[in-house]
Amino acid sequence: MAILPEEFRSLINARQSIRFFDNARTIPTDVIEAIIDDAQQSPNDCNHQSWKFVVVTDHALKERLVDAAGSCEPAKRASVLIVPLIESGWNHNKFSIIQTLAAATHTLILSAKTRGIESVWMAGIGNVETIRKLLHIPPAYIIDCFVGLGYAKAEQMPWPKAPRQPVKKICSFNRFAFDPDTTYPLKKSTKYDFWKISNQRNPYALWHPRDWTIRQIAFFRGNAVWANSPSPTLHKSRRLSPEFDKEIEFASAHLKVGKTLIMLPYSGAYSAALLKEVPDALITHFELSENHEPIIRKRMKEEGITNEIPFIADDELSIALPDNSFDNVLIFQGLEILPEPSRLIKETERLLKMNGRLFITCRNKWSWFFLKFLWVTKKETVWNFGPYWPLSPTKLRGMLRDKFTGNFLGISPLPRHIGRHVKKWPFNYFSRLIVFIGERTKI
Ligand SMILES: Cc1cc2nc3c(=O)[nH]c(=O)nc-3n(C[C@H](O)[C@H](O)[C@H](O)COP(=O)(O)O)c2cc1C
Repeated sequence: MAILPEEFRSLINARQSIRFFDNARTIPTDVIEAIIDDAQQSPNDCNHQSWKFVVVTDHALKERLVDAAGSCEPAKRASVLIVPLIESGWNHNKFSIIQTLAAATHTLILSAKTRGIESVWMAGIGNVETIRKLLHIPPAYIIDCFVGLGYAKAEQMPWPKAPRQPVKKICSFNRFAFDPDTTYPLKKSTKYDFWKISNQRNPYALWHPRDWTIRQIAFFRGNAVWANSPSPTLHKSRRLSPEFDKEIEFASAHLKVGKTLIMLPYSGAYSAALLKEVPDALITHFELSENHEPIIRKRMKEEGITNEIPFIADDELSIALPDNSFDNVLIFQGLEILPEPSRLIKETERLLKMNGRLFITCRNKWSWFFLKFLWVTKKETVWNFGPYWPLSPTKLRGMLRDKFTGNFLGISPLPRHIGRHVKKWPFNYFSRLIVFIGERTKI
């Protein structure tokens, strides 16, 4: 055994998901075969070795996988796409074959790394039946993931690595003893039917932030923000609000001169768009976890934004800044992710100068959208932005009444009118997104 622990550690540390590749450099066939040969040395259930690996090198085929099957974008950017497959059966009621496939896939990407080849493991592969047709895969084979391989574009390394936890937080001896704030809450159930839980579906997910501690939300968001690369193309996520452009238009039109605090920026999509409209805005970010900072920094760089953006994190919502520090506070769809949104408003009151601008957008409980939302909460896992629950206009009004004066607009009054805005009561109160544009007017 020639490998030292520190050598192994440096290999696994250097491995990270890369989603842009230098396609001018192709991976030779013998190298691909050597990598797959390494992968098959992995432990596997009963040594059945029921795995197969389809290697997609044809660029047109990769494009079809993304465009027709709906696989995520890195699948088409990879130089080579590996489709690890396993024959159905022999699950031993413990997903044995999936465990086998995962073991082989991990060995595969580590082997690639030893050869200077970067990788991304993808479960977001889209419609499995379309993939099956395109690649002529028989029904008995399970298609659960792709691995994109390629040489990284030199200018994109080093990529920031998704932070991991201190080992003491994920390891306990002789019994399960962990900080509950690092466990995601689920519906109470004595028996979890794993077969019901797929990537898109988790009937046990709890969507209401009140069912989470704020530390759990901080932990979840701070981890999940790394689920995709810091690339702007990926982070203009399908799940970003369809009202995005309108929110930015209103926010930039109403920004006052001076300092701006953006609450809960997540991966910085709103901030980047705002800075494109108002390049000299002096922005500070507040999030629940430090983990957001490097990913926001990377995104800004990729979008060519050079502004220095101070970043503050606290998972108890106490923002370590003096009173009356800001001329603007912006909260884009942030209040509804919190167990107690009024606490963020209290901090806002303290931080915003007298006559300072408060701009809030919030998903609306009184809108047509809420029914759709309820349906989603029954069917889907909590999205990577974290749990949330739409707020009613009266709740929002109640929180703001003491210290702020302003107007409520609505965006997307009907499913047919997504992105359209309305000012008139009652239409503003029944739109998908409610927007408050106001000022701090009382002490
Ligand atoms: C089972 C699994 C599924 C994944 N699916 C995707 C995916 O669909 N798209 C993607 O871009 N990354 C995907 N990833 C990569 C993870 O987002 C990534 O491993 C994680 O954020 C940690 O970052 P790191 O790999 O850079 O350490 C997946 C990883 C695993 C293990």
